[in-house]
Amino acid sequence: MRQAYFDNAATTYPKPEAVYREMDRFAREVGGSAGRSGHRRAVEAGRIVYAAREAAARLLNVGDPLRVVFTKNATEALNLAIWGLVRPGDHVVTTSIEHNSVMRPLVAAGSVGVEHSVVRCAPDGGLEPSDLEAALRPETTLVIITHASNVAGTILPLADVADIARRRGLRLLVDAAQTAGRLPLDMDPGGLDLIAFTGHKELFGPQGTGGLFVGEGVELVPLCYGGTGSHSTDFEQPREVPDRYESGTLNAMGLAGLGAGARFIAEAGLDGIRRHELELLGRLLEGLRSIRGVATYGPLEPEARVAIVPITVEGKSPPELAESLDTRYGIATRAGLHCSPAAHETLGTLETGALRISLSYMNTADEVDYLVESLREIVTSR
Ligand code: ALA
Repeated sequence: MRQAYFDNAATTYPKPEAVYREMDRFAREVGGSAGRSGHRRAVEAGRIVYAAREAAARLLNVGDPLRVVFTKNATEALNLAIWGLVRPGDHVVTTSIEHNSVMRPLVAAGSVGVEHSVVRCAPDGGLEPSDLEAALRPETTLVIITHASNVAGTILPLADVADIARRRGLRLLVDAAQTAGRLPLDMDPGGLDLIAFTGHKELFGPQGTGGLFVGEGVELVPLCYGGTGSHSTDFEQPREVPDRYESGTLNAMGLAGLGAGARFIAEAGLDGIRRHELELLGRLLEGLRSIRGVATYGPLEPEARVAIVPITVEGKSPPELAESLDTRYGIATRAGLHCSPAAHETLGTLETGALRISLSYMNTADEVDYLVESLREIVTSR
């Protein structure tokens, strides 16, 4: 059966060849522990991890690779930033299209006296920056926004929010899970404070990789304490970044893949990647709108979103659709709430959930046509 993969917002597949090659090379030919020993395999592992930091730093548009802290995913990066910053009495402002990786830590932080406000986004997921500014209080210390919704693909006005945060002296934490490797992150001339990213989505690395950029002057309480391969006579956690936040042996094989993925993107160029995704997205939206009974959610204009489109179909539940696409056509999508009930509530799809179609740079126009025609067959053969 023909296969096509449209679940890239969960994790990208396939990866560029160089990603498979570098992970295989690490496993077979390198094999040492980065930053732990002095033999050649450990030194080579350290070099590979540093090259991954450099490649990630370039894509995030941040100057110092050592301020890119590796984590196992964006969720861990968001938790490191949130728990590392908030104190009892603080107030945090976020939006109504955030993932549970923001919502759940904020709700949990309520038990230690941290309050939060959720700014309502428009039904297409858009955020009005003045609404966010209106939610700020004297005790607000932190603003958290996603760069693009993992449900609707809506791109939030990050430059405006960064400007508000800077003017008001607040920390800004950006959830770039869906945009690192896909959109530029250079909107704030002063530099962003904290950027959480994952390795296994648009950076084309493997699962189990991600990170947090920690800006100059941002101090976090570590989430995890332990061995770092540095200052070993001292029982206190080292102060230097990234060691302060990276206890335990790193996933160097995964980071070999992440580095290769990030270098692949740098070579393709963010402009070229965006152009290709916009072409596919336009084709997909047009195709979906030509099928009677299909409703699409999110911004009407492709330019206002990344290549993620949630849909519902009259008379067919999203899980039914996902199953038909998978079993009859070999097409992978994701149905349900996508770990983001708040976003679905905003879009008006909380009751039913949606079928999410998410593209990556690796998809082709031919695959988009196959998806649209397969959906048309499912919807018309009731
Ligand atoms: N957050 C990922 C998704 O949207 C897993 O599917």
